[in-house]
Amino acid sequence: MAQKREFDIIVFGATGYTGHYVVETLAKSEEAAKYRWAVAGRSILKLRKTLDDVGLLIGRNLRTMTAIKADVEDEASLNAMAKRTRLVINTVGPFIQYGEAVVRCCVENGTAHLDTSGEQYYIERMQLKYHTRAGETGAFIVGGSSFASVPVDIGVDLMKSKFDGRLAQIENILRIKPGSQGYRFNVGTFSSMIHMMANMLLYRKQRHALMPDFDSLPAQPFVSSRKLPLYKQKQLNCWCLLSNEGDKQVVDRTQYSEHRRNGDVPVLYEQSIGFKSLLVPLGLVFWAIGVFILSQVGVTRRFMETFPRLCSFGMFSASGPTRQQAAEARFTHWFFGRGWGKADASNPTGPPNKKIIMRCDGPGTQPFMFFLPTSHLLFDTFKRDIDFLVICF
Ligand SMILES: NC(=O)c1ccc[n+]([C@@H]2O[C@H](COP(=O)([O-])OP(=O)(O)OC[C@H]3O[C@@H](n4cnc5c(N)ncnc54)[C@H](OP(=O)(O)O)[C@@H]3O)[C@@H](O)[C@H]2O)c1
Repeated sequence: MAQKREFDIIVFGATGYTGHYVVETLAKSEEAAKYRWAVAGRSILKLRKTLDDVGLLIGRNLRTMTAIKADVEDEASLNAMAKRTRLVINTVGPFIQYGEAVVRCCVENGTAHLDTSGEQYYIERMQLKYHTRAGETGAFIVGGSSFASVPVDIGVDLMKSKFDGRLAQIENILRIKPGSQGYRFNVGTFSSMIHMMANMLLYRKQRHALMPDFDSLPAQPFVSSRKLPLYKQKQLNCWCLLSNEGDKQVVDRTQYSEHRRNGDVPVLYEQSIGFKSLLVPLGLVFWAIGVFILSQVGVTRRFMETFPRLCSFGMFSASGPTRQQAAEARFTHWFFGRGWGKADASNPTGPPNKKIIMRCDGPGTQPFMFFLPTSHLLFDTFKRDIDFLVICF
């Protein structure tokens, strides 16, 4: 990794909703004060306004910070940006649309790149296209470093390490708890979701290219996949909608590489979103089918991105959640695991006989970052905002 550069970190897309929070977090963090960092985006005027707004919010003058003009439509500006820093934190999405040029420039310049993408088609395409070259130039390229998919990827890993024996199956359930004023997501996430759906069919093919033998990996005995996409979860007393997209692909890739490295048999991992009322997941299914159909055509895709609130019944909006909504919202990832104790681990003769339950709690779903994967690679660990708790064995 590049050692001597003008900056340690450049936040690209600082003017956006997520970028704004990244800037705020860095500006407030004592740990980040050790690093030289700057902001980048396509408008210097907007970058200056972001610095002023964040400065006002945290009571610090950020006017002396460097603002760098860089536009994804202008590769020379991206190259110039990548040359000046050790790490680019990229929040310019949808990544399927805007991400590749930034990755390419970082790879060519040996610059580490961390993004907030949850778009698996994009993340895996970058891996397929740039993995070898990134190895040659020493650039770390890390996708999905946000709410999607850090808590789940770390959670599965942690659960495996805490389980005394052989873990066979994990059921992950995400519960989101809005605050007193409810919650809505920013349009950037909606745009990414639309572009992900538009590429869903291509994604299946691409995945095969990345992990050709994935479907023939050894499986855990005596456990099977959930048959129904909607089910009642007794322990949490909620309705769960199976959502084996996004985080699950990250867990799959981690398990795939662990199998290739150590011969580990993958754990059967499934994930759902939990709701109090049955009506919500039923409504979501119909809405998601509608968005999927409309995402296949350019005109309707643009219509949905232009009118997010109308097309999502108020779930997404161009102004994102208010600060109060963001501050009050909480999430919990529940992990229910089953497996065998040490005595049966090597040769289980019946269904799993040992359980583990773990929960991971954290703030909101968007306005915070987990720098864990890259911070381990690059710097000292940033302070975590999330707590993992093993509840019972
Ligand atoms: N994985 C997760 O959990 C997670 C969480 C939050 C967000 N995200 C993802 O992060 C991305 C950003 O979301 P957001 O809500 O922050 O979106 P946003 O508010 O719309 O911000 C988009 C940013 O991209 C910039 N941009 C657009 N076109 C550009 C160009 N040609 N050159 C340079 N910059 C350009 C915008 O700059 P201007 O201000 O100049 O328009 C803005 O700074 C989305 O893909 C979203 O899905 C993921």
